[in-house]
Amino acid sequence: MTVTKTETLPVRSGDDVVRVRQRVRALAVEIGLGLVDQTKIITAASELARNTLDYGGGGDVCMEIVQAAMRKGLRLTFEDHGPGIADIEQAMTDHYTSGGGLGLGLGGAKRLSNEFHIESTPGSGTRVTIARWK
Ligand SMILES: Nc1ncnc2c1ncn2[C@@H]1O[C@H](COP(=O)(O)OP(=O)(O)OP(=O)(O)O)[C@@H](O)[C@H]1O
Ligand SMILES: [Mg+2]
Repeated sequence: MTVTKTETLPVRSGDDVVRVRQRVRALAVEIGLGLVDQTKIITAASELARNTLDYGGGGDVCMEIVQAAMRKGLRLTFEDHGPGIADIEQAMTDHYTSGGGLGLGLGGAKRLSNEFHIESTPGSGTRVTIARWK
């Protein structure tokens, strides 16, 4: 698999979240995703950007266009250096929230993506990677 384009954006404010949504949409269009798949990756990105901001204390997102054989994909990596997640299984459970949310962001992002990976170290930070393939 090769990376054919890389862009990084900060995730430090609500306005940044809006910009992330806009760039994800543009990159999704660029790789030829249809409207439904565009909406899926934008929604997933939105949830992860919100978590980066609300729980991670801000961070950034690396957006990559990737190519594997004849397939193109969009891979997004959200990273923060916040408090991290002690129990990832609990955090992934639908309706679990530590912050008065719906507790559906992480599970939703996973369901809306073709690939989902989360790593977190308490006291050090969190990195979530998703990909959507054409
Ligand atoms: N980047 C992060 N850093 C630290 N904790 C996180 C991070 N992302 C998620 N969490 C933890 O995982 C929990 C579940 O996240 P999830 O996005 O599923 O739900 P929520 O943000 O609480 O609610 P919702 O997204 O539905 O509004 C959060 O409540 C928080 O405790
Ligand atoms: Mg959330």
